[in-house]
Amino acid sequence: MTKINDNYLKLPGSYLFSTVAKKISAFQEANPDKPVIKMSIGDVTRPLVPAVIDAMHKAVDEMAAAETFRGYGPEQGYDFLRNAIVKYDYASRGIELEADEVFVSDGAKSDCGNIGDIFSVDNKVAVCDPVYPVYVDTNAMAGRAGDYIDEHWSNLYYMPCLAENGFMPQLPTEKVDIIYLCFPNNPTGVAATKEQLKPWIDYARENKAVILYDSAYEAFITNPDVPHSIYELEGAKEVAIEFRSFSKTAGFTGTRCAYTIVPHELKVNGTELNGLWNRRQCTKFNGVPYIIQRAAEAVYSPEGQKQTKENVAYYLNNASIIRNALTDIGLEVYGGENAPYIWAKTPDNMGSWEFFDKILNETAVGTTPGAGFGPSGEGYVRLTAFSSKENTEAAMERIKKLL
Ligand code: MLT
Repeated sequence: MTKINDNYLKLPGSYLFSTVAKKISAFQEANPDKPVIKMSIGDVTRPLVPAVIDAMHKAVDEMAAAETFRGYGPEQGYDFLRNAIVKYDYASRGIELEADEVFVSDGAKSDCGNIGDIFSVDNKVAVCDPVYPVYVDTNAMAGRAGDYIDEHWSNLYYMPCLAENGFMPQLPTEKVDIIYLCFPNNPTGVAATKEQLKPWIDYARENKAVILYDSAYEAFITNPDVPHSIYELEGAKEVAIEFRSFSKTAGFTGTRCAYTIVPHELKVNGTELNGLWNRRQCTKFNGVPYIIQRAAEAVYSPEGQKQTKENVAYYLNNASIIRNALTDIGLEVYGGENAPYIWAKTPDNMGSWEFFDKILNETAVGTTPGAGFGPSGEGYVRLTAFSSKENTEAAMERIKKLL
């Protein structure tokens, strides 16, 4: 008889952003005259920039001619893109990488989830709380998280990120093997300085742990003390894998392109993780389409840089509109200065879902309840800065009137 992976049966409810989307759709259906402004999932709204569109058009034309047509590409990504990533995202910050340490993929979400394939289920995994739910759910699916009891997975090590500790995780007090860190943080929007990250490198080196560093929001960093890459810290190549994405940097959420860095120096018991990840990708992944990789390459051209930075600045301006509006009405507000996310304390100790429902039902603005990111997210909601400026302002007006 067939047996299913019953770890899936242990997962509570549906994926956070599906639940939120369903609630928003149900409201919209019931209230067609009240257009919802979505500040829930972090999905971009600005169109792809002209430099990217031009590159895509050219690549489409290449696919139309026998001499330039491409079939399967390298699973790890074309050299032109891997080399551009090395040069513009790393060498420019004094980080030396080889092109074969870069693995181009269809998303940081997929890579953060798939990376578990190369680790034993016996590892002890540490996650921040609140946290991007993909890290937790994919470990649960793999059987690495144990059982879900009282809103906690029995085998995960939770690192509470609270207002009291500036939403910074504290070093584990027991030995853990894999540590997920995400800075600038999703969901709190808080960024970590080099000084704050250094103890994690030291911990990982001392305890032979691996750090899975999600840096998908690095383009939003405005503070010069905040590193864009974990590899700006000495010794990080020995202990960390880094995930990056074109989704938020260049508006690729629907276009799909990202990459993961697995340095050769990163070894577990003498085995290079680079080789294992390469084996995994070659077996289970057939590469990102040529057209999309040419589009991603164009992000690094001078025009591409200028145009994508303008979009990032546009979203950061929305973030400050949200911060100012919520602060004006007396809410405690975090994030939004080096990240597109604003983390706001609910008024009068209202529960996250209760506040989410109130805002949705009474103002037709969609947010994400903090409790959906983990038990320590209770009492918060997350808003994203990815709407248009007009919608951001309109949403803030509606919330101001309500509160
Ligand atoms: C989020 O809203 O947390 C992210 O956009 C989700 C994602 O990137 O998968």
